[in-house]
Amino acid sequence: MKSNTEKFGKTPHQPSLWTRADALKVHADDPTTTQPLVSADFPVLSNEVFIWDTMPLRDLDGNVTSVDGWSVIFTLTADRHPNDPQYIDENGNYDITRDWNDRHGRAKMYYWFSRTGKDWELGGRVMAEGVSPTAREWAGTPILLNEQGDVDLYYTAVTPGATIVKVRGRVVTTEHGVSMVGFEKVKPLFEADGKMYQTEAQNPFWGFRDPWPFRDPNDGKLYMLFEGNVAGERGSHTVGEAEIGDVPPGYEDVGNSRFQTACVGIAVARDEDGDDWEMLPPLLTAVGVNDQTERPHFVFQDGKYYLFTISHTFTYADGVTGPDGVYGFVADSLFGPYVPLNGSGLVLGNPSSQPFQTYSHCVMPNGLVTSFIDSVPTDESGTQIRIGGTEAPTVGIKIKGQQTFVVAEYDYGYIPPMLDVTLK
Ligand code: FRU
Repeated sequence: MKSNTEKFGKTPHQPSLWTRADALKVHADDPTTTQPLVSADFPVLSNEVFIWDTMPLRDLDGNVTSVDGWSVIFTLTADRHPNDPQYIDENGNYDITRDWNDRHGRAKMYYWFSRTGKDWELGGRVMAEGVSPTAREWAGTPILLNEQGDVDLYYTAVTPGATIVKVRGRVVTTEHGVSMVGFEKVKPLFEADGKMYQTEAQNPFWGFRDPWPFRDPNDGKLYMLFEGNVAGERGSHTVGEAEIGDVPPGYEDVGNSRFQTACVGIAVARDEDGDDWEMLPPLLTAVGVNDQTERPHFVFQDGKYYLFTISHTFTYADGVTGPDGVYGFVADSLFGPYVPLNGSGLVLGNPSSQPFQTYSHCVMPNGLVTSFIDSVPTDESGTQIRIGGTEAPTVGIKIKGQQTFVVAEYDYGYIPPMLDVTLK
């Protein structure tokens, strides 16, 4: 049987490993890597829809971009059903928790706009019903391509299957707001190949999603990060010395951790427009550590590559754990080797008293971290909760070498532009 890294051959690079030893250094509630408590009296963006994964409009260099003074975000969105008999419990009350938990199956891409980088106004659906080829429109990235306002929306078309796709449209502004036009033809780009990236046939719980295209600041080429799992039949992976790392005596037992096989994938474009892609071996693998490294993204700072990815407590392997939140790794060149930030990888986790308060963090190049509110306890015991489905307070972090520090907290959903493009 091939080891996990042998699968990827010698060229062009070997994936970096997030090891079990690294993960043993993860500690919840360190104030420098913990998101401040979110109060249960948070405001909601909308009483009609839930929102979760938030995708600020940006350019290929990663800069969050406004157009003609309008900030724009895309969100995964689903209707709230307070009056639907399907979500009314036996006492006649709206079961918002069940409605919220069901949202992934009906996720659609919506957009919002704002003059202030907060107080978002709902623009509407990006694609009309029937345009996207699958039931679910899952996360990705909207890219402003030029001063004409052309936008490539990369996203994941899910159920059936999981395909990384893109759809082109245009952002149009007036004095009163923003609209999205076009977004009528979805182009499939690629799917998991079963050789480097696990397929549904190899594992029904596979992950293959969340495209994040970017231009490499050094070689100028167009690449894309995405979430994957390492190829191979479920249960066939090995958690060997390399994946375990340098653990203390007594920590050699890996239990059933061969089932956790997350990786951060990368692809390179064969053309300028990003219509033709070649998958490359993953940048980072977490075999034996964690089963999900979601929404991977970069911050390019001080000549380094800061790779961020979100993960959950429930996706950790036996014998290791950590909070829901965003984790990070740093390298001097695109293909690594990557070293976990703060020794462990943890950059911003939920406090253990409110383990599900936020998720789907996106670290922007200005050090601001946006996320959504999932659920916040409303009583001491944590049995009563308030469901969010709305933007969380933005957190400021400072990135210094191989360390990060929480330094500030801002308003709910504060996503200020880093540059403004005047449309022609
Ligand atoms: C992260 C995530 C993404 C996925 C979406 C589905 O919150 O799991 O990986 O695209 O949510 O709703």
